[in-house]
Amino acid sequence: MRRVGLITTNILSRIAVGYAIAGLALVLPILTLADLGEADKGEEIYFQHCAGCHGEEGDGLGPGAERLLPPPRDFTSGMFKIMTTAFDEYVPRDEDLFKMVSDGMPGTSMPGWSDLLSDQDMWNVLSYLKIFSGYDEEEPGPELAYGEQIPSSAISIGKGKELYLEDDRCTECHGLEGKGDAKKRLLGDNSERTWPRNLTKPWNFLGGNDPREIFARISTGIPGTQMPSFADEASTKKLSIEERWHVANYVKSLEKTVEVVDPQNTVVKAVLVEGDVAETTDDPRWQESQPSTFFLVPQIIAEERQFTPSYDTITVRAMYSEEYIAVLLTWDDRTKSIPGDATAEKISEEGLAEDGVAIQFPVTIPDSMEKPYFGMGDVANPVNIWHWKSGTTDLPETVSLMNAKGFAEIILRESPDVHATGTYLNGTWRVLFKRKIATENPGEDIQFSEGVFIPVVFAAWDGSAAENGSRHTMTTWYWLLLESSSVWEPILAGLIAMLLVIAVEFWWLRNIKRKQLAD
Ligand code: HEC
Ligand code: HEC
Repeated sequence: MRRVGLITTNILSRIAVGYAIAGLALVLPILTLADLGEADKGEEIYFQHCAGCHGEEGDGLGPGAERLLPPPRDFTSGMFKIMTTAFDEYVPRDEDLFKMVSDGMPGTSMPGWSDLLSDQDMWNVLSYLKIFSGYDEEEPGPELAYGEQIPSSAISIGKGKELYLEDDRCTECHGLEGKGDAKKRLLGDNSERTWPRNLTKPWNFLGGNDPREIFARISTGIPGTQMPSFADEASTKKLSIEERWHVANYVKSLEKTVEVVDPQNTVVKAVLVEGDVAETTDDPRWQESQPSTFFLVPQIIAEERQFTPSYDTITVRAMYSEEYIAVLLTWDDRTKSIPGDATAEKISEEGLAEDGVAIQFPVTIPDSMEKPYFGMGDVANPVNIWHWKSGTTDLPETVSLMNAKGFAEIILRESPDVHATGTYLNGTWRVLFKRKIATENPGEDIQFSEGVFIPVVFAAWDGSAAENGSRHTMTTWYWLLLESSSVWEPILAGLIAMLLVIAVEFWWLRNIKRKQLAD
């Protein structure tokens, strides 16, 4: 076995030069980082924790590898994605590898090991895995030049934005607003599909998201993918050190701060509006309403194979009037999936379908706060499903209303009372649903009412990832609350409570006074 061969040569060479090195070490008190790890101690750790994915031979073909996207790294290729060496160097610095093993790679199955392994264990395993690529015998490249870091400011962000847009430098792949809405099909070095990162969700960056780390990615690019280096002198779009700091500050400024998941929040609050509810997705009143953002996770029924969805979160806003309720759903989608459209067909996976989104309510609002049935309802607990689809080149967008009592019994209702309309802009879908608060079919339709917690689930389909039918993402059950209509109610309650306290205090003081007089 190759592994054994490598280890034996390693041990032999160690014995052979051991004395010489020991002697040298006495004279040279400088230890390089490579000396921090011991490969033979690392081997055991590698087999225990890493070989399952990265393979016994380091070739990325471990038993757990089959279903993983991106696949576990083949260390024999010598390719590493996250480096802080000059852009044309291929041997990573030990610190780079250490950071990856310690922190893991967000958005991939590569876990961070710092909770499980000691620093020494991690240095050891690194020394071992470097043998697969022969990097145990090569010097890492020199660190890239950072120059003087330019702190973030409105001016720097502005300059960065110009450079980002100039010549389609970054927009070509990351889109006008950084959502990663690619215009072309991007492939990695092993012809696997890759997608430009959504820069508004920097928690998914593989190599970290502080400006210094972003600066490093812009400088080195991401080897093995189409993310280029902008320090490359040969590039027509290259950037100076100073310019790269401005772009890094701009990228950092794109981070979403409002539409992010707050695990504490489980309630979508619909506010009561005067007059009509919003009719369009860009009604300015949506900006004032409080958004709730939830995780979307794959819904997988037994026969379906596992898949890695591209949607991760959905943001919900709601408002209601005396007569109507309107719900706005917003989510990032790097592709607008319109079957029949040439650009959409080109960029999509096999089997382009429409994008879609759905809301599910119980037909009867339960009395208790007990979370109801998961999935699509059951015989005792039927549900309403409002389903919007983006349309094709031949057909406009559609909305349908279904009643379901579990997966087996789904009835498509004729002439749905539900309206929906969607708009797609720069990597984001916005879909508005609208329905009357009360309908003429109380036995079949949910009747909304104020001040009660209404269970609700959201589901979404990314048509470009061939999501269709039962293959989609969804949230767990959350609550929708039509906030109480009267603004005076809480104020009145407060006033009454205050008056009561004052009255009690009066009575108490009077009693004390009387008692003092009596004494
Ligand atoms: C559950 C599977 C899994 C396990 C277990 C795992 N890895 Fe990984 N690892 C991955 C995947 C997937 C990638 C590639 C991610 C990518 O290409 O974006 C990766 C990438 C790496 C990289 C490359 C980083 C870079 O900059 O390109 C290193 C180094 C690494 N793993 C080390 C380890 C070590 C050491 C262990 C054990 C302590 C380990 N991995 C265990 C899945 C795994
Ligand atoms: C030709 C397409 C392309 C261009 C042009 C491009 N990128 Fe990328 N970028 C990518 C791809 C693809 C990835 C994701 C690679 C992967 O799969 O890990 C990426 C990832 C990134 C990341 C995430 C880094 C991480 O740690 O995960 C950042 C930040 C980024 N790009 C910034 C930029 C900036 C800024 C520019 C312009 C100066 C730019 N990119 C130009 C394709 C591109």
